[in-house]
Amino acid sequence: MTHEVDPQARLLGIETSCDETAAAVVVGGRQVLSSVVSSQVDLHARFGGVVPEIASRAHVDHLTPVVAQALVEAGVDDGAVDAVAATYGPGLVGSLLVGVSTAKALALVWDVPFVAVNHLEAHLYAALLEDPALELPAVVLLVSGGHTMLVLMEDHGRYRVLGSTLDDAAGEAFDKVARYLGLGYPGGPVIDRISMEGDPAAIAFPRSMIDTGYDFSFSGLKTAVINHVRRHPDVSTADVASSFQEAVVDVLVAKAERAAVEVGAKGMCLGGGVAANSRLRERFLDACTEVGIHGNLASRAMCTDNAAMVAAAGWWRLRSDGPSPLDTGAVPGLGLV
Ligand code: KG4
Ligand code: ZN
Repeated sequence: MTHEVDPQARLLGIETSCDETAAAVVVGGRQVLSSVVSSQVDLHARFGGVVPEIASRAHVDHLTPVVAQALVEAGVDDGAVDAVAATYGPGLVGSLLVGVSTAKALALVWDVPFVAVNHLEAHLYAALLEDPALELPAVVLLVSGGHTMLVLMEDHGRYRVLGSTLDDAAGEAFDKVARYLGLGYPGGPVIDRISMEGDPAAIAFPRSMIDTGYDFSFSGLKTAVINHVRRHPDVSTADVASSFQEAVVDVLVAKAERAAVEVGAKGMCLGGGVAANSRLRERFLDACTEVGIHGNLASRAMCTDNAAMVAAAGWWRLRSDGPSPLDTGAVPGLGLV
């Protein structure tokens, strides 16, 4: 069923599912008026990963000023928004609850609808938000710290998960390998940078399941990296990082390309934090050109967690499902379909 929603409706989006506190104002699911992201990465770095209790407390501290800034930057500081959307899952339960409760409270005070948004669906919308030319059906490669999925977006709200990871998420593999190599947290950006000084063909790491199906597996690759460094303690860290990254990218790109051709996709896009990876972006675009399918690379800021994608997905959800009930709770294990 489709609900009447003003094409010019201004949605406030709120994102607190993990370690980014974010708020944004987006018009009609398309035009971003403001997007504010406050990262907690420094708070968690010394623990080598996100600490849930610290994350939820930091969201409580940061969310009000972040929302205020998003409203001011959008020029709607009088609270004149038409709906409030918030991520309700998947994610850390305490963190999600901060965003969901705040969104409901604002929706009640302003007497506007509350819209519960699936974080994974929001990542799909991040790509669409920046490329109005992207046509559906599209194959989206969603690669983050918590997820690795190949999704067929048939239409708005209609998705088919073609494949997902059987063990570690792609970003998790970057983070674990970086930690083993002593490169710090989060690992993705450091490996991306250091790989530029290394040889991607120096070490032939395994490309797990590259020719079979659409599921992924990265834990064998992580073990192969650890074993190689143990056996060759003097190996160049840049070569290890670069060869590891190349193995991940080879598998991700090969599967996305094959899926897009097999389903007859009109578009291909990348989403999630790992989509910020320079080598993945370069190889993904090459693959799109090779198969003649319109490819889209969302900006790095749009790939990582943000609230503009939540507000955009929220507009489409409001249109398809109407407002969400105010007793909607956080759903940490929420799936895409
Ligand atoms: O989507 P995201 O911001 O948070 C969630 O996991 O939902 O993704 C964070 C992940 C981390 O694992 C981080 O290491 C990875 O994305 N990442 C990267 C890069 N930038 C962030 N991985 C590879 N290359 C990058 N440039
Ligand atoms: Zn995410």
